[in-house]
Amino acid sequence: MRKIKVAIAGVGNCASALVQGLQYYSKKGPDDGLTYWDLGGYTPKDIEFVAAFDVNSRKVGKDLSQAILQPPNNTVKIVDVPKLGVQVKKGPVLDGIGKYLKDVVSVSGQPAQDVVQELKDTGAEILVNYLPVGSTEASRNYAEAALAARVAFVNAIPVFIASDSAWAARFEKAGLPVAGDDVMSQIGATVLHKTLVKMAIDRGVKVDETYQLNIGGDTDFLNMLEESRLKDKRESKTSAVRAMSPYEVPTRIGPSDYVPFLENDKVCYIWLKGRYF
Ligand SMILES: NC(=O)c1ccc[n+]([C@@H]2O[C@H](COP(=O)([O-])OP(=O)(O)OC[C@H]3O[C@@H](n4cnc5c(N)ncnc54)[C@H](O)[C@@H]3O)[C@@H](O)[C@H]2O)c1
Repeated sequence: MRKIKVAIAGVGNCASALVQGLQYYSKKGPDDGLTYWDLGGYTPKDIEFVAAFDVNSRKVGKDLSQAILQPPNNTVKIVDVPKLGVQVKKGPVLDGIGKYLKDVVSVSGQPAQDVVQELKDTGAEILVNYLPVGSTEASRNYAEAALAARVAFVNAIPVFIASDSAWAARFEKAGLPVAGDDVMSQIGATVLHKTLVKMAIDRGVKVDETYQLNIGGDTDFLNMLEESRLKDKRESKTSAVRAMSPYEVPTRIGPSDYVPFLENDKVCYIWLKGRYF
């Protein structure tokens, strides 16, 4: 099977988990913990990384296998990743680094790379967007680059591109897949909350109200202290849970604080109030 060539924008904790996960699951089988180990005949070993972009001076210029281990990344190390031969290139900063990230990310002084050219030169087929929440301009810039380089776009963050009809139409017209927006953890707060609401409704409960408060100690949570960057994140998480109910339920969901010593652990508090016989 031919390899699927993937580029990453944003070499943070999620990218680290993806790169390590691919390494780990390339040597595993269908019953070792992935939702879909085999997708249309492709398994993890059929995916290869060919390009990566970041703006952090600790990551730009490094091999992707080393860049994923640089602070402030703090996701667990589950496996040794050999040198991948993919040098992290400086992307355009735009609105990628918010008010709080400025304190922990030193932006590389190198000039930004031509993203379109890099995607073409490396033969990338899919660009995965892992930028910080609120990076609207930067995400749109990578989406434009994907269109120009004729590369599919997986938008893992809550900036509305795949679910925006104008953007979706542009990808459709170009004959390129676009998927997103935001990703859902395999077993995380969103799927747990959705399941609880669905179970209550399936069992005849009239759900009166529900909330989900999330805390964590990584840069994702630090960045999300900036409420003005959060609107799309709240909407993305809230609409996922709301979709479980046929009627309007007062719902409040979203990141609620940054607790540094939690590092990459995340804690969610779910409240659900309803009435039943
Ligand atoms: N962890 C999850 O379960 C989960 C679930 C859903 C969505 N997400 C979203 O995925 C995104 C990534 O999360 P994370 O935990 O990896 O965040 P992170 O802060 O660890 O990583 C973001 C990376 O983007 C880089 N960056 C900033 N501006 C850039 C630019 N203009 N070009 C290139 N790189 C740039 C940063 O330097 C950093 O390395 C976030 O938006 C997060 O909300 C995460």
